[in-house]
Amino acid sequence: MTTTRDAERYGDDLFAASRSDERERLEGLADAFDPASRQDLLALGLDARWTCLDAGAGAGTLSGWLASVAGSARQVTAVDRDTRFLDHLADAGVRVVRADLSDPAFDPGRFDLVHARFLLMHLRDRKEVLRRLASWLKPGGLLVVSDSLAVGGETSPHEAYRRTVAAYWRMLAETIGSDRHCAAQYPRMLAELGLRDVGLRLHAPLAGHHSGFTRFLTLSLGQSRDRLLAAGLPADVHREALRHLADPSARELFFAMATCWGRAPAAP
Ligand SMILES: C[S@@+](CC[C@H](N)C(=O)[O-])C[C@H]1O[C@@H](n2cnc3c(N)ncnc32)[C@H](O)[C@@H]1O
Repeated sequence: MTTTRDAERYGDDLFAASRSDERERLEGLADAFDPASRQDLLALGLDARWTCLDAGAGAGTLSGWLASVAGSARQVTAVDRDTRFLDHLADAGVRVVRADLSDPAFDPGRFDLVHARFLLMHLRDRKEVLRRLASWLKPGGLLVVSDSLAVGGETSPHEAYRRTVAAYWRMLAETIGSDRHCAAQYPRMLAELGLRDVGLRLHAPLAGHHSGFTRFLTLSLGQSRDRLLAAGLPADVHREALRHLADPSARELFFAMATCWGRAPAAP
């Protein structure tokens, strides 16, 4: 019997940083969502004096941007289970920490901003990790968490795309425990953690139309091919879905990024 302790996790094999196309996949994701994340963080009052934690920093594009906004790169801490894409940030002065955010003993300090994007949705213990992310806020500090809200793919009129996306989300849930809808719960969860001024914003690029998002989706489905076929998706359906995505006239939804925020109470 597989227990939670020995169950497969994000990055063990699927989406492992050691895969030859993983950096390109993460950069496609960043290309699709960095402009919206930067806009949201600036609208929320990001300030050059803030100390910032980027949890599950991936390719480090947002950590690097936070370092460019901060008065000093040393104000930014970037954490990931695998930091191989973050070396250039360490050279620039960012504090790069290799750590497992599910480790209850891990404590990176206290910050004005704690940010985590497309991390929690892939963690089975997301509720506990969210609680710890909030506990790392200074009084008055801001927690910003972004994850997917799956929309459109599983109801697309394009049969191969619809079947492939549905199989993909099912496979992720069954193997690494991803939840494609968990971001819908974040406003309530942040309020329950005692955070104030809780809000949420959505951003939904179109696959086919947005080149970075299309690259991310195509590489995600490519990395998952063997697993999807093993789970019963016919190879020709998978192939047809990728062919459809390569058609520049395709206009498909896959997920919206839901960005949710809340502020820790100020010091008494
Ligand atoms: C989908 S990527 C998102 C990367 C980046 N936040 C972004 O939005 O561009 C998820 C990242 O979280 C990291 N990650 C997953 N589980 C983790 C854990 N338990 N502890 C630390 N990092 C983890 C992965 O290594 C990966 O870099």
